Amino acid sequence: MAETLTITDNRTGKQYEVPVTDGTIRAMDLRQIKVNPDDFGMMTYDPAFTNTAACRSKITFIDGDQGILWYRGYPIEQLAEHSDYLETAYLILYGELPTARQGDEWAREITLHTMLHENLKTLLEGFRYDAHPMGMFISTVGALSTFYPDAKDIFNAESRRLQTIRLIAKVPSIAAYAYRHSIGRPYVLPDNELSFAGNFLNMLFKMTEPRYKPHPVLERALDVLFILHADHEQNCSTHAMRGIGSSHPDPYSALAGAAAALYGPLHGGANEAVLRMLTEIGSRDNVPAFVKRVKGGEGRLMGFGHRVYKSYDPRAKIIKRIADLVFEVTGKNPLLDIALELERIALEDDYFVSRKLYPNVDFYSGLIYQAIGFPVDMFPVLFAIPRTAGWIAQWEEMLTDPDQKIARPRQIYIGPGKRDYIGREKRK
Ligand SMILES: CC(C)(COP(=O)(O)OP(=O)(O)OC[C@H]1O[C@@H](n2cnc3c(N)ncnc32)[C@H](O)[C@@H]1OP(=O)(O)O)[C@@H](O)C(=O)NCCC(=O)NCCS
Repeated sequence: MAETLTITDNRTGKQYEVPVTDGTIRAMDLRQIKVNPDDFGMMTYDPAFTNTAACRSKITFIDGDQGILWYRGYPIEQLAEHSDYLETAYLILYGELPTARQGDEWAREITLHTMLHENLKTLLEGFRYDAHPMGMFISTVGALSTFYPDAKDIFNAESRRLQTIRLIAKVPSIAAYAYRHSIGRPYVLPDNELSFAGNFLNMLFKMTEPRYKPHPVLERALDVLFILHADHEQNCSTHAMRGIGSSHPDPYSALAGAAAALYGPLHGGANEAVLRMLTEIGSRDNVPAFVKRVKGGEGRLMGFGHRVYKSYDPRAKIIKRIADLVFEVTGKNPLLDIALELERIALEDDYFVSRKLYPNVDFYSGLIYQAIGFPVDMFPVLFAIPRTAGWIAQWEEMLTDPDQKIARPRQIYIGPGKRDYIGREKRK
């Protein structure tokens, strides 16, 4: 028997049977609930979409209570252990792990598109010497729209595939150029012999040596961090990507908007905020006083808490392990002791336990980034690089989903009723 929900409207005494599919009711089925025929009909009020599914998706599964994250059914722990970022990006985009031949061809195509148009350098030159790299990243990704006008052909699958390759290939180059600009060093061309992560390190850190050789441990650590950040279902920036994409602009414009959503300290800016917080705390001894201030409502413990995870973020567990490997190469980040002490105290404290606040992906990632040599400003950019795969996959899923249309929420108007205009001289 089909599942239904029976709703009794005690304003009218009427009963309604609403179909239940996948544990949800369709918000539009509530519209039939009216007090009289002129009534607009019942809506739901859900600021911040805390209980609204806005799409059906095959890409990423999260069980926030159990701390589970899968990409296309594969547990994140297995991908972090055995896969690499490019293969994971392929999986997220196309639904299956590539065969050996598909994987090689995919890597080759990405490698062939890493170069940036020379005019983009001129654009980057226009930024002030101390411009935040994330601002430069957002602007430059948006500017790509003007370099590839063919990208407007969004209902052409071949065109979408080309833009996908361009975007995945070029975001590390844009990120590296933004970084080099901010420290006044010349841009470094991509090295096609290196891996995706290795080449990124090359474009960031190469100096006068004829060939840059990435440290294998740091290269692998960065690649695993990229895997962990590649998608995370309907978060704020993905929602922005889908929302902007729903009016059918080219993917570069939509992705610039998604990256802007990522920039905020409650989302991709959180790892930057964690580092600033740890630096401000200064020493282990100051941790209890800091936690007391947070509990008293003075700010938040950055890198803690998550809208979906109400247990330990599975990505944070993996990152904690990578941190140990990285610190063996780079030496321990002195802020690590403060972070460990914060975590210890918070996980024993009823304030955090009762609210199910656990470390999230950003709590330890910043410490690794800093140890590898990235300045704090680069952290949100490092998040945007791998998330590009997830944004595009979600955008494409939205475009090809017959249920989707231009995104347009409703509101409850609470402003004044109709009133007549009063001339300026008569206003009190
Ligand atoms: C991620 C985040 C935005 C999710 O927010 P949310 O789902 O809207 O949760 P809420 O803001 O409703 O928080 C629920 C309760 O926990 C508290 N809380 C949430 N995160 C907190 C944190 N990091 N530190 C201290 N208290 C926190 C809130 O004050 C609230 O307490 P209350 O019920 O007494 O008012 C939030 O946890 C946060 O701001 N974390 C810090 C930023 C961060 O690390 N972001 C990266 C996410 S990957």
